[in-house]
Amino acid sequence: MVSLFAASSAVAAGDPEAGAQLNAQCQGCHGIIGFKAAYPTVYSVPKIGGQNYDYLVLALKAYRDGERTNETMHAIASNLSDQDIDDLAAYYSGDQKN
Ligand code: HEC
Repeated sequence: MVSLFAASSAVAAGDPEAGAQLNAQCQGCHGIIGFKAAYPTVYSVPKIGGQNYDYLVLALKAYRDGERTNETMHAIASNLSDQDIDDLAAYYSGDQKN
């Protein structure tokens, strides 16, 4: 995991405006500070606003491709294209905090 943070690149490929259109499907969980999902067990939902761009891209692709296992995020990320992921990462790593 440490290497993810070391590889921070300067240029963001995503479009934050497009990401803002997509984030309706994320806000329900990630927009609520301290939110705990109740099913299947109680677990905290991480804050993703203000995270590193590259980290967000890698995390979403890892969920989508099954390298990172979380049923909820896998189900959500499965519907995202590479472009969607870039756009969402640009949105969440930008000024709009969520
Ligand atoms: C149903 C609730 C829910 C929704 C909706 C949801 N997430 Fe998540 N998300 C979670 C939970 C719970 C985790 C923590 C999973 C884990 O432990 O790996 C998580 C983890 C993440 C992470 C990793 C954060 C980290 O610190 O490593 C990212 C990035 C992420 N979500 C992005 C998104 C995006 C983008 C969307 C919308 C397309 C979205 N999520 C929609 C519940 C949700």
